[in-house]
Amino acid sequence: MTIRLCVFDAYGTLFDVDGAARRAASAPGGQALAQIWPQLSANWRRKQLEYTWLRAAAGHHADFAQVTEDALDWALEEAGLEGAALRARLLALYLELPVFPEVPDSLQGLAAHGMALAILSNGTPDMLASAVRAARLQDMFQAVLSVEDVGVFKPAGAVYDMVGARLGVAPQEVLFISSNGWDICAGAAYGFRTLWVNRAGAPMDRLFGRPDAMARDLRDVGAHLGEG
Ligand code: LAC
Repeated sequence: MTIRLCVFDAYGTLFDVDGAARRAASAPGGQALAQIWPQLSANWRRKQLEYTWLRAAAGHHADFAQVTEDALDWALEEAGLEGAALRARLLALYLELPVFPEVPDSLQGLAAHGMALAILSNGTPDMLASAVRAARLQDMFQAVLSVEDVGVFKPAGAVYDMVGARLGVAPQEVLFISSNGWDICAGAAYGFRTLWVNRAGAPMDRLFGRPDAMARDLRDVGAHLGEG
């Protein structure tokens, strides 16, 4: 079936989640983060994802803004860096995360070939709108889908159902693109065509579902749009 739509995960796939701590560390007053920002950022991301999975499994939803704050609080305490100003700065930077360097040209290239593009993310509508606006990508996407419409996080099937329900495509007409191994496995099991953007060179997750293809970044997405 021909691919009619490319659906991108947001955080870690389009937006560099390390960008907040990295920028805070290099800004004036960021000395406290100079050595430890990579560890802080990794803990922040790890806890953020864990909290989404645990909340989904337990049926205790809170939105991604809350989960992101909770995870940051854990990571700051672990680093011995509690402080309202730093916390506020990191959360503000999270709303304007940088995109990975190849993202604008890659999206532009797909759009120029007539491919419809969308985002499907755990992020709240406000978080996603802010990040997309900061990256000047507002005109690129046919839809920016937030899990807040279904009130549960990935990898719940209700999240992936939003693509067909909102955009009128069958799963096999979608190329789902995510850097998160667990997200791409779940998307594959759901029935999407899948491209794992394995930016970290990580081993394949041992989960239900296997991606159709893997790449290190988004430069060659066009090569994965052929008939399946
Ligand atoms: C997202 C997370 C999983 O954007 O990165 O949905």
